[in-house]
This record gives sequence, structure tokens and C-alpha cells, in this order.
Amino acid sequence: MKSSTKVIGILLSAALLGGCSVGKSESHDMMDHQNMSEDEMHNMAGEMENGHMSHTNPLALNNSTGENELAIPPLLKPQDGGGNIYPITAQSGQTEIFDGIQTKTLGYNGSFLGPVLQVNEGEEVTFRTKNELDETTTFHWHGLDIPGAGDGGPHNHVKPGETKDVKFTVDQGAATLWFHPHPEGATASQVYEGLAGLIYVEDQQTKTNGLPNDYGVNDFPLVFQDKQFDDNKQLNYQLVRNEDGTIGDTLLINGTINPRLTVGKEKVRLRLVNGSNARNYTYRLNTGDTFQQIATDGGFVNKPNDLQEITLTPGERAEIIVDFSKYDAASDIALLNESGAILLPFTINEQKTNGSDEIAVNLNNYHVTDEERNLPVTKKLELFGMGRMVTINNKQFDMNRIDFTQKQGDTEIWEIYNKPDMMGGMTHPFHIHGTQFKIVSIDGKEPPASEQGWKDTIAIDAGETFKLAVKFNNKGIYMFHCHILEHEENGMMGQVEVL
Ligand code: C2O
Ligand code: CU
Ligand code: CU
Repeated sequence: MKSSTKVIGILLSAALLGGCSVGKSESHDMMDHQNMSEDEMHNMAGEMENGHMSHTNPLALNNSTGENELAIPPLLKPQDGGGNIYPITAQSGQTEIFDGIQTKTLGYNGSFLGPVLQVNEGEEVTFRTKNELDETTTFHWHGLDIPGAGDGGPHNHVKPGETKDVKFTVDQGAATLWFHPHPEGATASQVYEGLAGLIYVEDQQTKTNGLPNDYGVNDFPLVFQDKQFDDNKQLNYQLVRNEDGTIGDTLLINGTINPRLTVGKEKVRLRLVNGSNARNYTYRLNTGDTFQQIATDGGFVNKPNDLQEITLTPGERAEIIVDFSKYDAASDIALLNESGAILLPFTINEQKTNGSDEIAVNLNNYHVTDEERNLPVTKKLELFGMGRMVTINNKQFDMNRIDFTQKQGDTEIWEIYNKPDMMGGMTHPFHIHGTQFKIVSIDGKEPPASEQGWKDTIAIDAGETFKLAVKFNNKGIYMFHCHILEHEENGMMGQVEVL
């Protein structure tokens, strides 16, 4: 965890000045902070209700009542007949999120959200993308090592009615990745309205490391997205859009409102995906018990990390194992966020499935090499600003400007600094397309164990400097940007061309 004093100082000044942004773990820190009086807390709450709320001090989430069993997205394996073709169609439709009410939504191969594309390392696959929307979209594969032309950034338009094949060889180890649109100016609205799906990369190790991997039985995807529904229970993006990140009071997990998950009395794998436009989540169990983190964005950690909580900013993923064998049907177990909102209550089924209880001790052999530690910084990025005034190196995104070039296969050290502003500044989830990178250091120090693994998105607090070892295995143009989708659209994005 980061120093809470720093964050609190920033938080107080931001709140008292009527500013609207603070660090990512602020509400958690706020609760933990011993020196803050009730009155100070009260003042801050008052300020924030007066419209000075930001995505990092969001509107509280409603508790899940647990009345609906969690939807499990369909698993999409390649069509029979060879070719490893995955048809993926962006479409619009209506979804019954609330009982008896149709909400207009977007989805892939369905009316809302999308399937899980299961691909295997080493295989050549084709994503057969089709746009049945009445607006332009793109299909971006977040976390995938793929040539730039197929990456689905803002250059890779798929117009209404168009079909486009993206053919490539899966060249990375097991990971939970995701996909979503990326058209310039409409990424935030299209994601908000429902365009998001998952990609599971499987490798040889997946089958032998003892991790639960029975899809929808002891291995569950959990896509967290907060929404603000209007009086007619519709998603009206333009109405609720916030330039510093659109948030809502209603959590959907896999599109399910008030979800509950039924699990066996055994070890269960949860693949946590923050698919929200802007909200951060610090996940913990209501019992205070630990869970084991087994994966970061792009693959397994070397050894499971015992944690009581883990924070994900937009775009980030983590896989965790919760051991439900310790509890029984009468236990009241739920996943909470930093402010205690109930995200997901669990129902424990005394029946066990045939999942294994023995998880391999060594899951990966990730490490930052001495050579990487000794490389000089060759790319410097400074993140700054808020609202519509967000920049990277004082510039806003321009489709026609290449900000950096890098050679395919070369490792370079990128130094990313989040420059504070007068009110402290805010956390930016920084993401690079087309690569999984390593965090070499954070403010000169080793990253926490939970971030020692392959990453494609990192939460950079105001004032922090990250050094990353970045290597692209393919050529092409790739975006790097803040994953608060409104910041990305407001220009907090640049392009690197890999030659
Ligand atoms: Cu989720 Cu530009 O990415
Ligand atoms: Cu991406
Ligand atoms: Cu940002």
C-alpha cells in the first residue's frame, strides 16, 4: 500500500478547495486514517455532495442484494471445420437488466457485453469481426501481443456493415485479457453501453498447475462495471458523462444487477476485470480473510500472493483464488469494495466439484533482469491535468502524429511521471497497447508483490514515477493512454510506431 499521509493531505486540500481529484485508494485511506476527525470527514462529504465529486471519490455504489445469480458469458471456442475462426459481431439490442424492463444496450454476439474467446498459445486464429452497429467501431484486443494493423486502435475502423478478419498467431502465455471498441471520440460511450468481452489465453501450464479451470464451475470471469441508470432504467451516456471519468451508483457484474455467485466448498478462481469507464475497486472479503492472487494483467505471478485486498483501476485485471472450503452454507461471505459496499455475495454449496486443492507453488518464472535494470531511460512521459485539459508531455492526442518510435524486439525503459497539479492531481491508469511490460521500479523502489508480473495497465498516483521495461514483439502503430476512458478521449493518449 502507498503512503496514506500523502494521499490524505492531497485529499483534504482537494476537498476543501472544492477540487475534484485524489489518489486511487483515497476512500480506503480516508477510513483508515487515524487523525481525521468526524468533523473533517463530514466537511469533506458535504463538499463532495455539492458536485465536487470525482471518479476517485465516487458516488457510493449500492449494495448488491444478491437476488440474481451471476450471468456467465458464453465461452466461444473456434468454429468446427478448421481455421480457428471466431465470429465476433458488434450489435445493438435490448437487455432485461431490471425485471420486466428492456434497456437499450450494445453487445458482441448478443445484446449486452460479449463472450469469452478462448485461444491457445501457439495457434493461428482468425477473429472475424463484423460491425452491425449504425456507427463506426473498432475491435481492440487489450493485452494481446498482436501486429499493429490488427490491434484495433483508432486507425482500424470497421464501418457499419463491414466485416474484417484479424488473423494472427497467439504468442503469449496464459492470461485473462479483454476486448473493447476504440474509435476516436466514441470509445467511452460504446464501452459504457455494453461493448466489452474477454479473451482467455490458455497454454500448456494451464492444465497442469492445479489451478481451478472448470469454466463457470470453479473458474469465473467477473467483469465489474458501474452504471447510472436514468428514470426509465436506460443508459444515457451523454447525460451522465463526466470529463474526469463517468461513474454510476449501480454495479453490474457480467451485466447482472444485484448479483450473487454460487460456489462449491472448495478453492474457486475469480478473474477480476475492471471494465468500468473510470471507477477503481479495492476488493476484499467481508471476513477480512486473505485470498491468493495468482495473476496480474498478462499472466501468472511466480508464487501466489496472500492478500487481504487488491486494487484494480480501469483496464486492469487480476486473478485470485478464494478458499471456500473454510466456510459452510450458513457462512455470510461477500466481496466488498474499499468503502464496504457489497459487490458480490456468495452462496456456498456443500457439494464440491472435482477441482483440485493442490495449487503448484511455482506458477511462472517472471523476473526483471539485471540487464533491464541497468538500461538507461530512453522514453519519458509526463502525465498531467484533469478534465478536458489532460495531456501527455504537454500534448493532446493527434491521429496524425507519431510520438515515439521503437524497434521491434528491443527492450526500452519508459519512465512515466504523473505530475501533480495545485490540487494534488489524480491517479491515471496508464496502458500500452500490443505488449505486456514489466515494472522495473516505482519511485526507485521494487513494485509490490502484487505488481511483480506481466502488466499492460498500471495505476500511477499523482507524484509517482514508474520505470517500465517495454518490448514489442510485433510491428505497427500502438496507442498508449490513460484508461479512464474520458481522459483517453480528451486527448491523454499518444502513439508509438514499432519499426
Ligand atoms: Cu483497453 Cu486502448 O485500451
Ligand atoms: Cu489496450
Ligand atoms: Cu487519467
